[in-house]
This record gives sequence, structure tokens and C-alpha cells, in this order.
Amino acid sequence: MIDLHHHLVYGVDDGPADLETALKMARAAAADGITHIVCTPHASDDYFYDLPVIEERLEVLRRELHGLLTLGLGCDFHLNARNIEDALANFPRYSINARGYLLVEFSDLGIPPQLHHAMEQLANAGYKLIITHPERNPILQRKPEILSDWLKGGYLVQVTASSLYGRFGATAQRFSNELLDRDWIHFLATDAHHVEWRPPHLRKGFEYVSKRKGAATAERLCVTNPLAVFEGRALPAQPEMAGLWDCELPGFSATQDARTQAEGKAKPGLFKRLFNR
Ligand SMILES: [Fe+2]
Repeated sequence: MIDLHHHLVYGVDDGPADLETALKMARAAAADGITHIVCTPHASDDYFYDLPVIEERLEVLRRELHGLLTLGLGCDFHLNARNIEDALANFPRYSINARGYLLVEFSDLGIPPQLHHAMEQLANAGYKLIITHPERNPILQRKPEILSDWLKGGYLVQVTASSLYGRFGATAQRFSNELLDRDWIHFLATDAHHVEWRPPHLRKGFEYVSKRKGAATAERLCVTNPLAVFEGRALPAQPEMAGLWDCELPGFSATQDARTQAEGKAKPGLFKRLFNR
């Protein structure tokens, strides 16, 4: 399996603090059946993407692991103004193995209209955007139509594997399973930060998907698609996405509805019909 999102580089963000812990994470990943890891340090308001330091530590990891895993480099790229400007001026910086695929993450606090424009600019500059863990974002949970529009625009979706079985709470679990059922997911990844509390486990997600959607889907989300990204190739043909958000998910909207009502806002149907085909 290929993990596109893993905070393996030590001492640069909220991933492992030291080499020893990073090596434990890498060995745990290999034991889980992962063969390739894209190391994805944050570039955000909190963490500066210090490329020389990151590359130096990546080399240390490669040396210490003696070929146990194939390590690549990407970035957990936060869509803030400074990052966007820098990426636009320096394509393909931040993309996975400098081959164009870019993991983008969003604030939990807002997705302003100008962000859509910035995403278009990045795409026009050559980046192929991968939306990271939308199932965990409270705005996208409330407004899945935003995600639908992005998918229609050709952006790709990466879900955190453990969201599917409840690691990030009931709402993320229901949302991610709905995305899975509708073929709105292109990649599963670990988003590993720690050996125990954010572990580099993908096997459980692979098996979960196999059981729910079949082995071919698990292979596509955990092997075929992420390998194409790792190597900078186009994705193979994907199944058609089921596009009608016209159902209420049992139990899904209750918390959100309560929150919306508490905020005194009008409450539209959470999953409304978005497009017909
Ligand atoms: Fe991450």
C-alpha cells in the first residue's frame, strides 16, 4: 500500500519529535503492509516548511531504513495567502515528489469565496489538487455541495483511513462512509502523526473498504491511485461518482441541525439535490 499523507519527518511539525520516534512509525507502517510513504510536513500558519531541513532529515530516514520503505516528499499544504503566493511563483514546489499533485487542507473556520479562485489559480499553474480529509472539516460536513463542486471541477479527494471506522468521531465516520459509497474518494491515507494516537495504519482501512465496497475499490484507493500520484502519472479510469445528495443520512444531521438551530440560522436540508444526471 502507498500512503500519500504521513507526518514522518521528525522535528518539523506536530509529527514525531525525534528520529527514534520517526523510525518507530516507519517500521510500524512497513509492518502494516505500507511500501511507500509520502512524507508531508505541514506548511501552515503554525509550521514553516523549511525545505533544506526537511530534505536533510528525509535523507537521514532513508539511510536509517535501508530500503525498508520507499520515501517521497510532499506537503500538507494549508491554503493561506503566503503559501498560495509561494506555490504559484515556484511550481512544482510543495507537490508530491515535485510531480504536480498537491495535498491541500482547509481551515475549520471558513472557506471564503476567494479560496475557490486561488484553487483555480493553482490548478492553472499546473498543480493537481488533492483535497485532504474533507470528512473531518466541519464546514464541508455541513455543506457537502462545496465538495461536490470541487469534484466536478476535477479536484481529487483523500480521506483519512481511520475516519471510516470512527477514529475522528461519528460525523466524520458517517460522512466518509457516504463518500465511499458514492465513489467520491480517490485515496485513503493515514495522516499519521504518532506511533499510538495517530498511527500509520492503512491495512484496517483497506480491509474495511474491501468489505463494504469490494477488493477492487480497496486496491484502487490504497494502491493503484496513490502509486500513480507517487510516480506522477495520471490516474487510471475511475468509477462514475454518484452525484445526487438528495438523501438525509440517518442520524447524520442531528448534531448539525441542533447547532444550526442554536445559531438561529435557517436550516436547509443537509444533503440537497445538487445535480441531475
Ligand atoms: Fe496531515
